[in-house]
Amino acid sequence: MTGRYLLGMTVSIPSPIDWTPDHRIRILDQTRLPEEEVYLDLRSVEEVGEAIRSLRVRGAPLIGIAAAMGVAVAAGPLPRLSASVLLTRIREACRLLGATRPTAVNLHWALKRMERRAEAAAGAGEPLGTALLAEANAIWDEDRAMCRRIGDLGAGLIPDGGTIATICNAGALATGGIGTALAPIYLLHERGVPVQTLVPETRPLLQGSRLTAWELHRAGVPVTLIGDGMIASRLRRGDVQAVLVGADRIAANGDVANKIGTYGLALAARAHRVPFYVAAPSSTVDPSTSEGSAIPIEERAPGELTGWRGHNSAPAGIQVWNPAFDVTPAELITAIITDRAVLPPRDIVRTLD
Ligand code: MRU
Repeated sequence: MTGRYLLGMTVSIPSPIDWTPDHRIRILDQTRLPEEEVYLDLRSVEEVGEAIRSLRVRGAPLIGIAAAMGVAVAAGPLPRLSASVLLTRIREACRLLGATRPTAVNLHWALKRMERRAEAAAGAGEPLGTALLAEANAIWDEDRAMCRRIGDLGAGLIPDGGTIATICNAGALATGGIGTALAPIYLLHERGVPVQTLVPETRPLLQGSRLTAWELHRAGVPVTLIGDGMIASRLRRGDVQAVLVGADRIAANGDVANKIGTYGLALAARAHRVPFYVAAPSSTVDPSTSEGSAIPIEERAPGELTGWRGHNSAPAGIQVWNPAFDVTPAELITAIITDRAVLPPRDIVRTLD
């Protein structure tokens, strides 16, 4: 158990990532939730890469932070190496970590930032280990602050006593702070404003039921779990006031990649006139990807769909399509809440000005 807890007096959720005193990376193994709270200490870039690929550490902002910490670890224990040898190692670490998951742009954004910092430190004759540790911590601190600002901006959009639907996990477990989509919910809850949540389980890996329901329940926020196929029926009842989801990458035209199922949720929200908001830090906006169709979508192993923890749920050898993400077109999105502004999706690149 780590000593660091997120949120305020009323809400306490363990941090999904931390440093150990001897500069290992301690993660909460999210594949083991909700049954067990198990922490793992990562000592190498390879271990960080495995943890990201296997979703022990996951969620777009958090994998950016974990990767940055991994690069800092790669530079840390080698002070006697020359700057050029260290730079080669750091570039290799960035390449390895960048190959773990293609869709969440925060990962690639954080790695680019670490590589640039390493080059600048080498050029200035600074110790690389110290510079990269400071940069990784800055990425983490900034993310924590961005979550808070998203929470403040988003809270103003949620009606008192409202029921908010989400998908996957865009909470404290997915970020360095109080989450993105869940941040407004936590802030309202902390202020004593009543808020209810509706959480689809999010097949195939159940980030909704295993992670979002776990952290909301632990924080004392009322949560109702539903199956993914129940979303449209529930929105038709008319008792959901808004949908609030996270993002893995936002293209320049405002199209949003997020967990598979988000697009269907957006279509159902439009059909039932429920506002559909995306909450994401500015590090999730990718101005170099012009539109959603250009976002690389990760396809994961068939076994994630054909079974669960050693039990088969489909015939052996069946053909499987298992994309981890989908793209919601900008026209289905009411607004995007970033740490800087609430913007119509078509104006999203303005958040980077
Ligand atoms: O495959 P995952 O669990 O990493 O997918 C995570 C999501 O899709 C989240 O909604 C997204 O990263 C936003 S997290 C603040």
